[in-house]
Amino acid sequence: MRTNKRVFLALILILNVACTKEKVPTEFSGCSDTVSFSEVIAPLIQANCYDCHKPPSPAGNVLLTNHIEIADEANRMLIAMQASGDELMPSGGPALNDSLIQYFQCWILQGKLDN
Ligand code: HEC
Repeated sequence: MRTNKRVFLALILILNVACTKEKVPTEFSGCSDTVSFSEVIAPLIQANCYDCHKPPSPAGNVLLTNHIEIADEANRMLIAMQASGDELMPSGGPALNDSLIQYFQCWILQGKLDN
């Protein structure tokens, strides 16, 4: 009984970790749902942009550390994500997958919420 309980708890833990990883969606399912800043946009920027756009000397003077900064730069960011050649961000590529770019675009269209 005791062992069963432990196995059960371990399973819950694993499921939790698995679910946390799923939070950055890989397939776009439409703009109908509200895109979460904390669960989708912030991790996206953290994983793909933050390394070069963090203090103390952010690339191109574009600092992307919090909601206000990301919201301020959002339009330029979207253009850079969809650009090619030297203009493409992440700089040096590869480009983000289309689904992530679409999520970012939805977040802008929905008013760049801090949710
Ligand atoms: C490998 C480093 C690196 C990564 C990763 C990176 N950038 Fe940049 N970024 C730069 C550099 C260097 C510049 C300044 C030179 C330039 O404009 O090309 C820049 C400039 C920019 C600019 C200003 C462009 C303009 O209009 O002048 C934006 C916006 C930007 N990055 C957004 C992003 C976004 C969004 C991501 C993630 C998807 C990202 N960057 C990831 C290096 C990086």
